[in-house]
Amino acid sequence: MLRLRKETARTLISVFFAIALLASCEKYTFRPPEVDPEYPWSLRDDIQPLFTASCATCHGGSLAPDLRAGNAYNSLTRGGYVSLPADNSRLYKKMIAPDHTARSTEAEKLKVLYWITQGAKNN
Ligand code: HEC
Repeated sequence: MLRLRKETARTLISVFFAIALLASCEKYTFRPPEVDPEYPWSLRDDIQPLFTASCATCHGGSLAPDLRAGNAYNSLTRGGYVSLPADNSRLYKKMIAPDHTARSTEAEKLKVLYWITQGAKNN
């Protein structure tokens, strides 16, 4: 009888530690966005989709910069919105500004930052 109780206690302790271990892992599942600065970020494949989804409703021609597909590159380069250092460019600074920061995710902001760093190519 005593032995059974010991085993039950051991099992309970194991279960407790298993839960504690899982719970301690939990906080690491919310990692900061991992955006590779070395990846060749593409305007067409990576940047334009976010402009189209999150910006073009307002920046659709009458409000500068025009961020619609096919217009964004010319509008951003001619309007002086993309320049180096990238974190000082008008495009990135506006994306992190209080009135615009909620319009894109942290990962999207980093992609734009790296795309500008890599020369803001029409790629
Ligand atoms: C709900 C409407 C709205 C959305 C959506 C929006 N913007 Fe804007 N944006 C504005 C308005 C209005 C201005 C002009 C006033 C100002 O500068 O704050 C502006 C200004 C800007 C400017 C500065 C323009 C200048 O000439 O200085 C940039 C750059 C910009 N937005 C980029 C973006 C990007 C990138 C997104 C998407 C992630 C975005 N905006 C989404 C309304 C919007």
